[in-house]
Formats: sequence, C-alpha cells, structure tokens
Amino acid sequence: MRKYLSKTLLVGAAALLALSACTTAREGETSSTASGPAVGFAKDALIGVALPSKTSENWVLAGDLFTNGLKAAGFASDVQYAGASTTVADQQAQINAMVTKGAKVIVIGATDAAQLSTQVAQAKQAGAVVIAYDRLITNTKDIDYYIAFDNFKVGQLQGQALVEGLKAKKATGPWTIELFSGSPDDNNAGVFFNGALDVLKPLIDKGDLIVGSGQKDVKQTAIQGWKAEGAQQRMDSLLTSTYSSGKTLDGVLSPNDTLARAIITSVKGAGKPIPVVTGQDSEVESVKSIMAGEQYSTINKDTRKLVAETIKMVQALQTGATPTVNDTSSYNNGVKVVPSYLLPPIIVTKANAATAYVDDPKLGPLTK
Ligand code: BGC
Repeated sequence: MRKYLSKTLLVGAAALLALSACTTAREGETSSTASGPAVGFAKDALIGVALPSKTSENWVLAGDLFTNGLKAAGFASDVQYAGASTTVADQQAQINAMVTKGAKVIVIGATDAAQLSTQVAQAKQAGAVVIAYDRLITNTKDIDYYIAFDNFKVGQLQGQALVEGLKAKKATGPWTIELFSGSPDDNNAGVFFNGALDVLKPLIDKGDLIVGSGQKDVKQTAIQGWKAEGAQQRMDSLLTSTYSSGKTLDGVLSPNDTLARAIITSVKGAGKPIPVVTGQDSEVESVKSIMAGEQYSTINKDTRKLVAETIKMVQALQTGATPTVNDTSSYNNGVKVVPSYLLPPIIVTKANAATAYVDDPKLGPLTK
C-alpha cells in the first residue's frame, strides 16, 4: 500500500485476493481439481532461472546457489544471466527459451521491470509458474509470486543509518547531503528511494537536512544500469558544481555498495573528507571499507537465505501445494498486488558487523 499505486487499484486487487484466498490451499495442503489428484509436476522437472547482468556480488552468488541448490533438490535447471549490454533482449530471449524447453517454474530477477510482460504471458500460457525474484516485474497479471528482502524497509534502514551517521559526526544540524538512486529500469530503485525518503523527507522539510545541489527528484539522482562509473561521474560533477567553494558535504544516500565505493573514490579524488555514505549488499570491499572507517553502512540481505526460500517455493509447487507467502498487501505491480514472501533486511555498521557476518564464509571473521 505504502509502496506503489492508487487506492482504486488496490481495492480491486484486494477483492481479487480475497477471492483467491477462498480457492487456494494453505501451505502443506495439496490443491486438487474436482476431476483428479494433486496438481504438481515431476520431481526432476526443469526449473528456469533468469537473472540480470552481474551488477553486484549478490547476483553472482545467486547464480551459483540456484545451480547447486536446484540440483541438490533433484531438479534440472537452466540458470542464465542477461549480458552486460543488451540486457533486455537477452533476458527476453532466455525466458522464451526456458518456456520452449518446458520449464515448470521460471524464476526471474528482472533486468527491466516493465519489459517482460510478453515473455511472462507466454510462460503462463505454457503452464509455468512465474516467480519474481528480488525485483518486482511490473504491469502484468502473469506473475504468481514475489520473493525478496523487504526493499521498502531496505530504503528506510538506509535513511535511518544516514541520519544516525550524521548525528554521530556532528551532534546538531543542519547537515548537507546528496541523494543517489539506482537504475530507473529496476523497480527496486524507486522502492529503495521512497523508503529512504520516508525517513529523510520530514527532516528535509524541517530544514535539518539540506540537499546541497537541490537534486531531490528520483530522475535527477538515478544511476543508469547501477554502474559505478555513472555514480563516480555524478559525484565528480556535484563536487565541482556545489562543493568547490568550501561548502562541507556531510552525507550521501547511496542505494548500494558498488555506488557507495564509487562515490567515496570521487570524494577522495577531489581531496575532500569522506562524508557519511550508506550502502547495501554486504560486498566484500565495502565491508572492508566499513571496518576501515570509510563507508558508513551497508545492508545484509543474505542471498543464501533468499535462494533457499525460493527453492522451498519450487518444492511446494512440485508437490502441488501453495507456497507460503507472508505479505499480500505491499507490492502492487500496477495490475495486481503480488503475493509475496519477504525476508527482513539487516542494517550493518562497524558497530555490529562482526556479529552480523558471524556465519558468512564470504566475509570471514571480522576484527575491529
Ligand atoms: C538489488 C540490489 C542490488 C542492485 C544492483 C537491486 O535490484 O536488490 O541488492 O544492489 O539490484 O545490482
């Protein structure tokens, strides 16, 4: 509700959900038709996984985890990444190929949220279940489930971390900040930004936070393709346009770790002190940077958990059961509220990093 669309749409969608609630089985139950036994599919069926290009470490990890996890669960799998440049066409072709090969479930981390409606319609027509993974697919009725960390919450945590970091640096405001957001074709980018503004806007309105450049609109702050070089260039020009005459930049809202490190590189290059910079993804280099006192925060969205929960959904579908969801109101894709399974993101700063990553082999034991 808080996240996306008009009330009219939501009311319609809520009615739809109420209707389907009467006809779908709960987890563990098997849905059956009047004429026959449980509806599922073969234990070794093909499962397609279409991921975006490798714009952050979480996507690299997800591919390996899906390949190994689906194999261990007995399924055949087809795990594909969109290429680095022609991402939309690549992903569309990959999904088409999965449909042709008879995939029973297609898990999609969309490269462009709004460009997959034809492909998911074909998947549905062929009888596949479509799961949007991490990123919502918009303007289509043809997705069945959404599984992700709660991305609005991610944005709120980033906003809170920025404010905490600023207060720790200088007890009283006003503080001067800049805002960055992710790629406009990724539905998450707007959700993260709105979540962060939910926390920051009241403080901006009060004058406690000042956006030095005045660039507050998501369009002005977006970084196409989540590219590090795009963030570095924008930070370079902000430093020239707004901070060359000695004004202090206290903090930067960065939507993820890749962009956070690019922003820090730009500031260092200009010989300025590093502001409070937020992030997301717990990337190895960013966690090192946090421990070294440079980047201020990141978000822990454990990809191992997200992939494991997605595979549980696939296993439920295989037996003909309805997968568990825990949110049926928040993620409206423009056509319907998509039944979602949301995991809680965790904010990480230097203060809690060692505990947060205690069982993460990628980050190893951390010492302050
Ligand atoms: C993911 C983030 C990631 C970004 C860039 C988003 O959709 O949720 O974790 O940083 O894509 O890859």
